[in-house]
Amino acid sequence: MINKTIFLYFIAAIAATGGLLFGFDTGVINVAMPFIKKDFTVSPQLEGWIVSAVLVGGMVGPFISSLLTDSLGRKKINVLAAIVFCLGSILTAIANSAEMLLFGRFILGLAIGIVSSSVPLYIAEISPSNIRGRLVTFFQFAITIGILVSYVIGFLFAKETEGWRMMFWAGFLPAIVLLVGMFFVPESPRWLISKGRNDEAKKVLADINGASLAEDEYRRLKESFEQEKQQKAGFGELFTKKLRIPLIIGIGIFLIQQFSGINAVIYYSTTIFSMAGFDLETTSTLATVGVGVVNTLSTLVAVVFLDKLGRKPLLYTGLIGTAISLGVVAYAFYNKDSLGTDLLKVLSIGGVYVYIFFFAISLGPLGWLLISEVYPLRIRGFATSMGSFYHWFFDFWVSLSFPMLAATSLGTNGGIFMIYMGVVIVGLLFAKFIVFETKGMSLEDIEKKWK
Ligand code: BGC
Repeated sequence: MINKTIFLYFIAAIAATGGLLFGFDTGVINVAMPFIKKDFTVSPQLEGWIVSAVLVGGMVGPFISSLLTDSLGRKKINVLAAIVFCLGSILTAIANSAEMLLFGRFILGLAIGIVSSSVPLYIAEISPSNIRGRLVTFFQFAITIGILVSYVIGFLFAKETEGWRMMFWAGFLPAIVLLVGMFFVPESPRWLISKGRNDEAKKVLADINGASLAEDEYRRLKESFEQEKQQKAGFGELFTKKLRIPLIIGIGIFLIQQFSGINAVIYYSTTIFSMAGFDLETTSTLATVGVGVVNTLSTLVAVVFLDKLGRKPLLYTGLIGTAISLGVVAYAFYNKDSLGTDLLKVLSIGGVYVYIFFFAISLGPLGWLLISEVYPLRIRGFATSMGSFYHWFFDFWVSLSFPMLAATSLGTNGGIFMIYMGVVIVGLLFAKFIVFETKGMSLEDIEKKWK
């Protein structure tokens, strides 16, 4: 049994390399941008586009995934993403103009958009229900490692001539791991059954559940699939009344996740810390590496507790914690003249770190987990991709608006953090009335809820 569990962890870890690339390629631009500007003439508009090209690609990627995941299968779509990651890394690393860099960033975004729906979906479908939360959270854990590694790599290559090229080359390595690793993991048994490849499905189930449980599990999945076939399929079903709740969950969780301001911190923490009086070149950058460390370590709490305590208790705790910490940051900026420089620094950096902790145990992993588990198999590929599209869509607007808002009085007096706090408070209502507990339920049990 231990071997089966280790095998499952291995599968989740390989697939989660897609998350590492997601985190790396979204984080690396912060540290690379100042150096790119030394080598190319980059207007402010072009700079904005180079940063957000990944997010635009992220919006397109889920469509590619939704078109291909059901026909190609959950494995091949990840192989495709890995190839696109390799291509994007090469293009950005060898770019000889800002425009070529922008194009390379868009290609990387496509790959990120594909994995952001295909990886959680694949892990959820391969996992037994008792550890599904933990294994899908590997994806989020890998995102946070990717972000942290990008900050550290930025630090290491900052002094090299054209160091930004090395930063982009660094993304090539995990892309190769994902590409090669995908040949060593099995296809999703649920997808195999949906294609009538029953013997292969049985074999995979024996590998991951053990021969004794495999037969029962196969029968359960097959039965559920046969019942599903009776119902009319089609993407349109996602917009019918009976799937209204999962539809709202998939969009709502990312609306709250992104408008809680997470990427204002992840992409711009150096700016936030310098606004609070830290030195831009030294302490702010170091404090940013601290954000990466807190983010990664705190995600481990979610890995351990999501299946034990359940999704909702962590969501409530996380939302209350993020609301309070955002309030503290807003308070610090609002009262910066009376607080004195030291207290302002302590409250802003402390508030941001506590915010990251509560985000990492709740909204971070739950976005990806919920979209991978709440939809019926027949539309799961499409629905997960749609959730992922909204993630990038909301991310795009928050990331685009933050630098502009930060430059106005809303930034200097902390009002922007009050707005994020307001969103999180609305999130509490969403958690109470819309999200339902999926701890311990099989994907097929969840599906029955919608019949
Ligand atoms: C979000 C990203 C965010 C990251 C931070 C993920 O769940 O999707 O937008 O940058 O968490 O850890």
